[in-house]
Amino acid sequence: MTEPKIVDKKPTVMTLEPGKYFWCSCGLSENQPFCNGAHTGTEFTPVALEVTETKQVALCLCKNTQNVPFCDGAHARL
Ligand code: FES
Repeated sequence: MTEPKIVDKKPTVMTLEPGKYFWCSCGLSENQPFCNGAHTGTEFTPVALEVTETKQVALCLCKNTQNVPFCDGAHARL
């Protein structure tokens, strides 16, 4: 597996409470947009996201963003 699996060609917009999150970079997790360990055995690893105050975020689901874990519009070019 060299390319991540495209989960969706739009981001997921959600409100996150303060805490630490792990964004799925491989696209295999069934708990999108978060890692569930399904990347095991691939070259992909989750990306840690530390949230210090409650905020709304747009997290990438196409897994092609250059601004992980946030949407940068890359899905529009797929
Ligand atoms: S399941 Fe995708 S990075 Fe962990």
